Amino acid sequence: MTKVDDIRPGPAHVAIIMDGNGRWATMRGRPRLFGHHAGAKRVREIVEACPDLGVKYLTIFGFSTENWRRTQIEVAGLMSLFRRYIQKETRALKANNVRVRFIGDRPGLDPKLQQLMDDLEDATRDCDGTNLTIALNYGGRDEVARATRLLAEDVAAGKLKPEDIDVETLPRYLDTRVLPDPDLVIRTSGEARISNFLLWQSAYSEYEFIDTLWPDFSPDVFAGLIAGYAGRDRRFGGVKV
Ligand code: IPE
Ligand code: IPE
Ligand code: MG
Repeated sequence: MTKVDDIRPGPAHVAIIMDGNGRWATMRGRPRLFGHHAGAKRVREIVEACPDLGVKYLTIFGFSTENWRRTQIEVAGLMSLFRRYIQKETRALKANNVRVRFIGDRPGLDPKLQQLMDDLEDATRDCDGTNLTIALNYGGRDEVARATRLLAEDVAAGKLKPEDIDVETLPRYLDTRVLPDPDLVIRTSGEARISNFLLWQSAYSEYEFIDTLWPDFSPDVFAGLIAGYAGRDRRFGGVKV
């Protein structure tokens, strides 16, 4: 029997670099944090749009390992926004059957925020609708370095032989170990770079770089990009026969 999922041409896993909050606020003569608050509000409707669009996995970039370079005021404001977002959204996420996971270097975050992250993961553990992954204190290079360290520990402990390490082995040590690779990576705000996001995982992802600033990213814009994906020809290095 053919399942709906087998014939649907859409991307199962979409990853988004939510960029442009600062510029959105600056254009309005407001502080950058005003843009971050507007951006956070957008997340709920994008998450809620996923089931109808056939998106089973949504991964969003919230804070990079490089974002600590921002002013102390902006960093503290973002951390407080993340804490509040988790507290405010837990109920709606559960009600929408969304399973939340976090990726990134957790020990580098404030212990209170880490606790909230653990609690949200626990609270949504049994949800089997959309898989929402939030990247906080995440950097692709940092993730690969941490994975390599874990892998080296297994080699040192005799659990893994160097000759057995291949492209299937390393991803089992990444933060994303339980997730499929992203089919489509979207970056808002007009910048055409990936800024250390999902380096290993996006080797064969399709990319969309769009000018829309993240606080203006609506479910309609999202749906348009998903529709555009259907027309793409993913070859993975092969040729059509
Ligand atoms: C993205 O918006 C959100 C984070 C990086 C936390 P920015 O804050 O980078 O916005 P711009 O790029 O300065 O406009
Ligand atoms: C990437 O955006 C990080 C997030 C969206 C969280 P940045 O705004 O930090 O990236 P750069 O500095 O423009 O490369
Ligand atoms: Mg930016």
